Amino acid sequence: MAAPPARIIAIYPGSFDPITNGHLDLIARGSRLVDRLVVAILGNDAKKPLFSVQERVEMLEEVVKPYPNVEVGSFEGLLVEYAAQRGANMIIRGIRAISDYEYELQMALMNRRLHPEIETAFLMAGEAYSFISSHLMKEVVSLGGNVSGMVPPTVEARLKGRFERKGV
Ligand code: PNS
Repeated sequence: MAAPPARIIAIYPGSFDPITNGHLDLIARGSRLVDRLVVAILGNDAKKPLFSVQERVEMLEEVVKPYPNVEVGSFEGLLVEYAAQRGANMIIRGIRAISDYEYELQMALMNRRLHPEIETAFLMAGEAYSFISSHLMKEVVSLGGNVSGMVPPTVEARLKGRFERKGV
């Protein structure tokens, strides 16, 4: 086993369409464990995101302001290539429930195969956030429901604006 790295630079990747308080909880936890944390938005997402990369960057930049060692980036292509380019030695992912585990394990093992020097660490979000997902936040707001306390206020306003304009 190689000696541990002097500095831990971690990537926290995801779609963040949009960021939820569950993601933010993970950012807070992750930022305490590593020297530098890069929250990285996947740009070429086949899932047809509601918000553009630019909008997601803006929302994230606003909510990570309290964390001086956290920055926001975006990437296209392979996550591990982006991580290597950024000099990262860790990938952080959140696990909410056992149902997340299978997919996460597969990704972590593939990423390890591609770049064995980059370690994946799983963090558990606070239990209060275990049922929250970006997908559900969009669905609830699109149907007129209230998501306050589940997403940052800036995200709540953007979600409302987006669905009001669409007249849904
Ligand atoms: O928030 P999400 O949508 O669950 O994030 C998934 C993400 C962005 C981490 C994953 O889709 C990803 O890493 N995509 C980049 C392409 C890649 O590296 N694929 C191989 C992973 S095994």
